Amino acid sequence: MNEKSNESAQAGEYLCAMSDLEATGAFGVERPDAPDRRTLVNAPPGSFEGPPQRIVVVHFGKDLRAYVNSCPHMRLPLELFPNRFLDEVGEQLVCSTHGARFNVSDGECTSGPCRGDVLRPVKTTVSDGKIFYDPAQFED
Ligand code: FES
Repeated sequence: MNEKSNESAQAGEYLCAMSDLEATGAFGVERPDAPDRRTLVNAPPGSFEGPPQRIVVVHFGKDLRAYVNSCPHMRLPLELFPNRFLDEVGEQLVCSTHGARFNVSDGECTSGPCRGDVLRPVKTTVSDGKIFYDPAQFED
């Protein structure tokens, strides 16, 4: 069993390292088989149940927040460019498609076409500088 498998057994599924957030304050994790934007736009609601295909992990002060990287407006990933999720002052996540803005603290959309909706939170754990999540939290 390799090191990554051991980590998975102990703390859930590996997302990224804390150091991965340093460059932009946020880091996007995507499964290799995640559907592309065109597929998402054309898919009926509820097409992708179960563990998320994309997750964004973001600094919130000295803490962390993580959300399913799926805008409530059209279920598209928030970012167009890798790990570019935050506004110019690093206080809100911004959807690059139509400009919805979300609080880093609680995922609530404060402006844009899905105002009042929220990003789905992802519970994470940190162990030895590595961030994990338990896919079982999405089973119900
Ligand atoms: S898809 Fe995010 S604001 Fe429209």
